[in-house]
Amino acid sequence: MAVFGFHRPKIGQRQIGWNSCECCKSHDAAPPLVSSTMLKIAHRGASAHAPENTLAAFRLAVEMGAKFIETDLQLTRDAKIVAMHDATVDRTTNGRGRISKMSLVELRGLDAGVKFLSVDGKSYKGERVPTLDEILEFAKTSEVTFYLELKETQGWGFEQSLVGALRRAGAVDRVVIISFDAEVLSTVKRIAPELTTGFLCEKPSVQLIEKATAIGAKQFLPRADRITPEIIAAAHGANLLVVVWTVNEIEDMRTVAAMGVDGIISDYPDRLNELPE
Ligand code: G3P
Ligand code: CA
Repeated sequence: MAVFGFHRPKIGQRQIGWNSCECCKSHDAAPPLVSSTMLKIAHRGASAHAPENTLAAFRLAVEMGAKFIETDLQLTRDAKIVAMHDATVDRTTNGRGRISKMSLVELRGLDAGVKFLSVDGKSYKGERVPTLDEILEFAKTSEVTFYLELKETQGWGFEQSLVGALRRAGAVDRVVIISFDAEVLSTVKRIAPELTTGFLCEKPSVQLIEKATAIGAKQFLPRADRITPEIIAAAHGANLLVVVWTVNEIEDMRTVAAMGVDGIISDYPDRLNELPE
């Protein structure tokens, strides 16, 4: 089975998917999931068009052609992993309170679509907060890779539960675990060295690139408006793919692509299609 890995074929040798390339065959490397093909990643699903971090947003991202989707994970009171960005349900559902204080049953009783105002007037009323198992099933049937972001303040055993779920679902090769928290990523790698991880940061620096390498990350994910060609060169020099977030204007997508980033996270996977492969 292919694994995510750093691989940079010569210009003109772009490649994507689970196929091995001539270069990798020749030096017997594990074939990479991606290479220098631009990674176009739907942020929280197609979150500009459908309620963020719901199956509706993931489905729409796939309909728009996305092969990669980013989502955020949180832990319920009864240790179930669900997709939600905030620590509380207040902003995105019709409920109130912290996820860590709610059971999965309570959380699933909430409506995660009713607050979303669609530009085309479409109603998403009745969307539920998805569980990790639902996400992994969706990833498999839709053949997409998920960037799973682990937020910093989670309960004990979160990383262990996550790895267990990924292994049970046979989804280890279909995810990249990302976090702003180096400790979280270190723990993930300690439990499951086979998982690909990515280190998120606001303001990139050489020190943070060194940190990413030290914790075994294969991807470096700085804020897009802080990226520079020097940082990209330093990350590539450390065998890290560079993925930036969150870029929503096509001109900005073109700018960071021209700078040499390997991937872009956007609320508009449809706009990412404007970029060359
Ligand atoms: O995962 C990249 C980006 O999503 C990080 O910021 O706040 O959207 O989770 P946030
Ligand atoms: Ca995120």
